[in-house]
Amino acid sequence: MTVSPASDPRDKSVAGRTSYLVLHNASEVVTADAQGNQVLRHPKGAVVFRDGRVLEVGPGPELLRRHGEARPINAHGRLVTPGLVDCHTHMIFAGHRAHELQRKLAGESYAAIAAAGGGIRSTVAATSAERDEVIERSLAGRLERWRANGCTTVEVKSGYGLTPAGELRLLDLMKRAVQRVPVRVVRTALLLHALPESYLGRRDAYLAEMTQRVLPEIVRRDLASAVDGFCDPVGFTVEECRALLAEARSLGLAVRLHADQTKHGGGAALAAELGAASADHLESAKEEDWRALASAGTVGVLLPAAALTLGQKLPKAKLLRAAGARIAVATDFNPGTAPAQSLLECAALAARLSGLTADETLLAITWNASKALGLEAQVGHLSPGAWGDAVVWECESLEELPYWMPSVRPDCVFIRGADLALPAVEGRVWP
Ligand code: NIG
Ligand code: FE
Repeated sequence: MTVSPASDPRDKSVAGRTSYLVLHNASEVVTADAQGNQVLRHPKGAVVFRDGRVLEVGPGPELLRRHGEARPINAHGRLVTPGLVDCHTHMIFAGHRAHELQRKLAGESYAAIAAAGGGIRSTVAATSAERDEVIERSLAGRLERWRANGCTTVEVKSGYGLTPAGELRLLDLMKRAVQRVPVRVVRTALLLHALPESYLGRRDAYLAEMTQRVLPEIVRRDLASAVDGFCDPVGFTVEECRALLAEARSLGLAVRLHADQTKHGGGAALAAELGAASADHLESAKEEDWRALASAGTVGVLLPAAALTLGQKLPKAKLLRAAGARIAVATDFNPGTAPAQSLLECAALAARLSGLTADETLLAITWNASKALGLEAQVGHLSPGAWGDAVVWECESLEELPYWMPSVRPDCVFIRGADLALPAVEGRVWP
């Protein structure tokens, strides 16, 4: 399988810079198969990378023998997995809301805090007061932290701009920041997050402007590949989200939706109806919603940090299996409900809260998360032809990934077949 890299301008530089490596002496190499149907385990395995892609995965001694020309990299008896994929973050914002956690813990509701001037709008104010350069640097720094925690692909949503100009500003800064960091980034425009104060009493005008002016501008300037909305009693209605997302889809953008979070309200059903790439949150979704998502091929994204902060439950794995749903786990990193900076930590929580097996947990942060981003042909697994994104972990078995808390740390992270910590491999340049 060869995957076209055409959509990424950096790809032109890949062939000349990356090389031919064999990562060997793993305790095991564990990966989803190319279709994401099952987890394959290669004891004493190896992975061969060539020109940024996976060439082959299999038994270590044999691959070492057959790829005598490749530069050998010793995994020192540690676990090797695909690079992790965090498919839901809001990591472009200024400030923090640590004081709100105290209020939540004391019993105040998310809606009450938002109504009293806290919540999303307070982060919007902090973000709009901050200088562009500081926001861009902070996003780049966060992406670097995600890479150090084993994520090689990260989705980033706008959403703390709110006004048309504010959202376009954040989308511009996102586009600039991602050039600075060796992580694959998927940019999403979160356009219906909260009604900005300047539009109070002018809801229809806001929706019309977002749909008729902002969406076409996003496409024209290639500012994002997907659009998201907050379908919730404290956000936007099913009808409002449907109108915006249907237009986004007709312009060729992928769609995703914050659905059925604080209350059950038809968000998951809408995501299924629109053939959304993902429906996220779903703490209040019912069994029929999960069945609808499964038949639409929409990935259900669990966000355990937000659920914990808001005192909500995650669905049980038994229900998800019976519905045939494909699930991912993500951080939802944001200053209000999920200041969660490690995807693996979130996966360890989700495994406990839902009852996921180690195989299901791995799929939820690799292949399934990649499917939520529409990248499953090339990311989230170590099949021949996929991008050479892999992690060597400071542990020996797959079962240890959801086990340790704080979670296992990466020993090294390969992106496009290159370990950026190896000085001989291009001196820490984005491969
Ligand atoms: O995904 N649900 C909406 N958006 C964020 C929270 C945003 C905030 O509170 O700042 C979420 O949980
Ligand atoms: Fe979110």
